[in-house]
Amino acid sequence: MHCREIPLTVWVLMFISTSEETCTSRLHITAVEGEPFYLKYCSSSPEHGKKTTTIKWYKNESHGLVDLSLHSSPRILLRDYVLEFWPVELNDSGSYSFQMGNDTHDWKLNVIPRSTHSCFTEKLVMSKAVEVKKSLQIPCEHNYYQQLANRTVLYKNCEKMENNQNPFLKNAEFKDQGYYTCVFFLHHNGKLFNVTKTFNITIVGDHSNIIPALLGPKIDEVKVELGKDIQLNCSALLNEKDLIYWNTRRKNGKDPNVHEGEVTRVRTSEGKWLASTILRIENVNIRNLNFSYNCTAVNEGGIDTKSFLLLLKEDMVDIPGHVFTRGMIVAVVISVMVVCLVTMGVIYRVDLVLFYRHFMGRDETLTAVVDEIHSLIEKSRRLIIVLSKSYMSSEVRYELESGLHEALVERKIKIILIEFTPVGDFRFLPQSLKLLKSHRVLKWKADKSLSYNSRFWKNLLYLMPAKAVKPCRDESEVLPVLLKS
Ligand SMILES: *[C@@H]1O[C@H](CO)[C@@H](O)[C@H](O)[C@H]1NC(C)=O
Ligand SMILES: *[C@@H]1O[C@H](CO)[C@@H](O)[C@H](O)[C@H]1NC(C)=O
Ligand SMILES: *[C@@H]1O[C@H](CO)[C@@H](O)[C@H](O)[C@H]1NC(C)=O
Ligand SMILES: *[C@@H]1O[C@H](CO)[C@@H](O)[C@H](O)[C@H]1NC(C)=O
Ligand SMILES: *[C@@H]1O[C@H](CO)[C@@H](O)[C@H](O)[C@H]1NC(C)=O
Repeated sequence: MHCREIPLTVWVLMFISTSEETCTSRLHITAVEGEPFYLKYCSSSPEHGKKTTTIKWYKNESHGLVDLSLHSSPRILLRDYVLEFWPVELNDSGSYSFQMGNDTHDWKLNVIPRSTHSCFTEKLVMSKAVEVKKSLQIPCEHNYYQQLANRTVLYKNCEKMENNQNPFLKNAEFKDQGYYTCVFFLHHNGKLFNVTKTFNITIVGDHSNIIPALLGPKIDEVKVELGKDIQLNCSALLNEKDLIYWNTRRKNGKDPNVHEGEVTRVRTSEGKWLASTILRIENVNIRNLNFSYNCTAVNEGGIDTKSFLLLLKEDMVDIPGHVFTRGMIVAVVISVMVVCLVTMGVIYRVDLVLFYRHFMGRDETLTAVVDEIHSLIEKSRRLIIVLSKSYMSSEVRYELESGLHEALVERKIKIILIEFTPVGDFRFLPQSLKLLKSHRVLKWKADKSLSYNSRFWKNLLYLMPAKAVKPCRDESEVLPVLLKS
């Protein structure tokens, strides 16, 4: 290290030691019971290490000076220049003396009770005014206990703050005003202690002035009804001392039914004021219409004015009373008629439907048949068709064809055709019927087929799905479909 650098190093060291003002220079000290507390002698020489003479701490009791090193209490700790209390109690109040050779120092300590209703003690708050929109900083730092504290919590008006940033820093708003308490949690000899530090923060408005500005349009047209009361609200953004007022006078005096209200002022978050004043017009009459009720906000820097104009409500102009009454009567009569018709409809429902069918001549039974065939075919494993001349109409022919299509092409269920009448007797038969294998066609031969042992019934049984010998009725099994028996 070069000789030139030494003075600089010494200067930095001195700066650090004097900036750490942790020693107790005040004569009268107030402490709160239950918190760790210390008294520290402010040594004139920065070299702490050089202890040439012995250090003594005394407390001035009623019966004389008590040497604190002899008066042993586990709560009181002597560390050279420092006297520590873990924690300080109400009976620690009194005079304390420090003695080191010829140097002495005295303090008057006043320990006050802990507040029962608050997380801080009002006597120990540090008040601070912050201008709105300027930086608000709450430094939760403790010169002496900082090293010991392993947790710091910030409270605002005794409620724990969600955003626990340290230091708490933001642009001040009026809502930030309040008591901010830093609580430092420390461990000592296995016990948890806390030290509090509270700031009383007041937010003050800035001193710059704005030009007053009225809210809303310059001309406010208000729709009114004659005979009703109305309130006109004139509001402006302005400075604390600025004026806002109504100008409602006419050449021939003031309207007797027009009344000016008081001015109310609310502070905005920006530190300006929102002033409002209400003009109340009772029992609006023709004279009040089409007249400008003016409102003005003013200070030495500027002026702003707006006009309120009362106009008659349009719908009141358009619909005269007798037209309105007639309209209401017509509406009521129509409603009554509708209710009667609906009631009649419900009572004579059946007659109405039958009357309708008679005239429309619709036959809903046909298409119903088709749906039935489709749904039954879906569930079947065999489709038995009995060809009988007496049933074969053109509608049935179509239904049979579509049923066959589903059976043959889509589901591939098996078809059994029973010729009750020979095929040759039919003029139209679906093409698909001719594709049936010959063994699937059974011919009914009057007397010969009647007996249970006849070939006809054996062949039919053979074409049906196999079934266990002991018949037991299964609900899920669907019986074959017979179009005509
Ligand atoms: C701080 O300690 C005191 C007792 O000394 C206790 O009553 C108080 O609740 C503690 N505060 C917090 C925030 O834990
Ligand atoms: C906090 O500050 C406000 C404004 O300066 C003051 O009125 C109030 O008395 C202070 N509160 C305490 C406990 O000192
Ligand atoms: C605080 O200190 C205590 C005792 O030294 C320790 O048990 C605890 O874990 C510490 N907490 C934190 C958050 O460091
Ligand atoms: C008038 O208007 C202002 C701004 O909109 C509003 O803050 C105030 O409450 C109103 N006053 C009344 C009496 O309605
Ligand atoms: C209100 O202002 C308008 C326009 O500035 C003006 O014509 C009118 O005379 C004023 N009315 C009153 C009552 O001062």
